[in-house]
Amino acid sequence: MKNILVTGGAGYIGSHTCIELLAAGYTPIVIDNLCNSSTISLDKVKQITGKKITFIEGDVRDAKFLDSVFKKFNIYGVIHFAGLKAVGESVEEPFMYYDNNIAGSICLFDAMNRNNVKRIIFSSSATVYGDPATVPIKEDFPVSATNPYGRSKLHIEEILQDIYVSDDQWNIGLLRYFNPVGAHKSGLIGEDPNGIPNNLMPYISGVAVGKYKELSVFGGNYPTPDGTGVRDYIHVVDLAKGHVKALQAFESSKVDNLYTVNLGTGIGYSVLEMVKAFSTASNKKIAYKIVARRSGDIACCYADPTLAKEMLGWQAQYGIQEMCDDTWRWQSGNPDGYKVNAEPHLMVEDVTV
Ligand code: NAD
Ligand code: UD1
Repeated sequence: MKNILVTGGAGYIGSHTCIELLAAGYTPIVIDNLCNSSTISLDKVKQITGKKITFIEGDVRDAKFLDSVFKKFNIYGVIHFAGLKAVGESVEEPFMYYDNNIAGSICLFDAMNRNNVKRIIFSSSATVYGDPATVPIKEDFPVSATNPYGRSKLHIEEILQDIYVSDDQWNIGLLRYFNPVGAHKSGLIGEDPNGIPNNLMPYISGVAVGKYKELSVFGGNYPTPDGTGVRDYIHVVDLAKGHVKALQAFESSKVDNLYTVNLGTGIGYSVLEMVKAFSTASNKKIAYKIVARRSGDIACCYADPTLAKEMLGWQAQYGIQEMCDDTWRWQSGNPDGYKVNAEPHLMVEDVTV
């Protein structure tokens, strides 16, 4: 069994990825400082898979902590999810974002190097394409950043590229996610944003469940078929499976030791199409009003997912209706996310290191 260190593994994408890692025969070892998550997600992973996840609370900026984890477990590779991800907050708090995302990543890569673990999958984002001149977006399109969050992703990609130039023993996969949505089919785990959500899907589902009165649709006059913004929404379970394929790809001859790949479906849906699909899934009317554009938003963004298919043998399986059905199952079953069950977490192994 290969141990995979999953940083940020108690979070939204990380917890779903733990399930797929287990299904593929890997053993996830989760580290997380719980700044945006709860170990209840890992309790639920145990409920779904029947397997207890090894969890160690700690911060990727803590070199001693990382060394102790690498020494205790024989780590085959790292999937690095840990980071902060709110664009607006990053504009207000750039120090916090550069410290957590960039300094945290450097501390992690340095610890990997010291402990001779040189295999990593990194969570990048389609945000690195800025406002693309055309769609669909290919991996060789120009990259740029318009806010500290995006800059942190771009910079970490560049740091990893430099590390590879200095030492070609590294295996590095840079995964550029489009818009992750949805939840595990069990309805036991899903996205649990802190406070009022910034992203579309958790806001729509919050309206459907009665938490918010109506959705503000940011802009109705974009050059898109119905005037609202178009994005490439990808089911989180598809995304999680992409991480397993990304790890396995290092053992095939189809990828270079350093590769960059889009994880998207290749299909763009507008805000109003998402509202309609969610209304069907939930059987609820989703009230909305069109308001001014959100600063920094672009009209249209969707992936060309060809390379992921060629290199990783990965392709998204789930469509828009499953994304909405699964989000609704999670949201209606857990209107307050994980908070409602906040009890001592006896099922999670607390490893003292
Ligand atoms: P999330 O907030 O649910 O998960 C991130 C996890 O990292 C959280 O559990 C948090 O507690 C943990 N964490 C943060 N800083 C840490 C630190 N210094 N040390 C240890 N743990 C720390 O977010 P997510 O949606 O699961 O995103 C995972 C990754 O994917 C992030 O890097 C994010 O930037 C990236 N990403 C997310 C999206 C998205 O829309 N969800 C899109 C593109 C890229
Ligand atoms: C946002 C981030 C991006 C990040 C991504 C995933 C910004 C500018 N961009 O992307 O960097 O990688 O999340 O975390 O924040 N919308 C509404 N009403 C809402 C919320 C959203 O109309 O209440 C619209 C947006 O204008 C957009 C679409 O829905 O057209 C999707 O928005 P969102 O879910 O926030 O994702 P992105 O803007 O693509």
